[in-house]
Amino acid sequence: MTFQEPDGATPLDPDERQGLKYNHITTRGELDELEQANIEQGLAWAAKRRSRDVFDDGFIRRLHKKLFGDVWTWAGTYRQTEKNIGIDPLQIPEQLRMLLGNARYWAENNVYSPLEAAARFHHKMVQIHPFPNGNGRHARIAADLMLEEVYEHPRVAWASGFDLQADNERRQAYLAALRAADREDFAPLLAFVGAVEPAKT
Ligand SMILES: Nc1ncnc2c1ncn2[C@@H]1O[C@H](COP(=O)(O)OP(=O)(O)O)[C@@H](O)[C@H]1O
Ligand SMILES: [Mg+2]
Repeated sequence: MTFQEPDGATPLDPDERQGLKYNHITTRGELDELEQANIEQGLAWAAKRRSRDVFDDGFIRRLHKKLFGDVWTWAGTYRQTEKNIGIDPLQIPEQLRMLLGNARYWAENNVYSPLEAAARFHHKMVQIHPFPNGNGRHARIAADLMLEEVYEHPRVAWASGFDLQADNERRQAYLAALRAADREDFAPLLAFVGAVEPAKT
């Protein structure tokens, strides 16, 4: 079984593929559907919970498990292999806790506007790339939960009518913005999330 991954997606190692809980899946489309159904359940779980724990690393793992745990056995556990995106897997626990501490500080001290905080939080989370897969979806949802629950601000229009999991102009703009942020240029990502007007060219 080989799935055609879109640009900017994380390929799975063979041992990670073994974690697929359904053995009848043969196409990318079937996998996408199963994951999407799982994600919807995870979102419902996230909306119902009581505690304000977005800055807690236990919550970050639990959220990944709720979003992907019906489909993948390794959901909610940190990545143990190197990927083309992401830091050394040994650094994940510490770097993630540092990010969560920083994001809490930003919120408590009004360091950034809500959308800028969401953009920076999202970018750092996908740059760490804590999980074997699902990092983009998980980190968009985590940023939205932070916006709603901590900043009382509406979520980001990440997809804006497109399918962000497929190759299209919105995904290309998203990946280009993340790559610029990797180089410390946050302007494209701020424009992408609607924190500033897009630059006139
Ligand atoms: N150069 C990059 N810098 C930072 N993040 C990136 C880069 N390229 C891709 N990403 C992020 O990684 C995600 C893909 O990782 P993956 O674990 O496959 O997530 P998902 O399965 O949810 O798409 C992209 O959606 C994006 O958020
Ligand atoms: Mg992926």
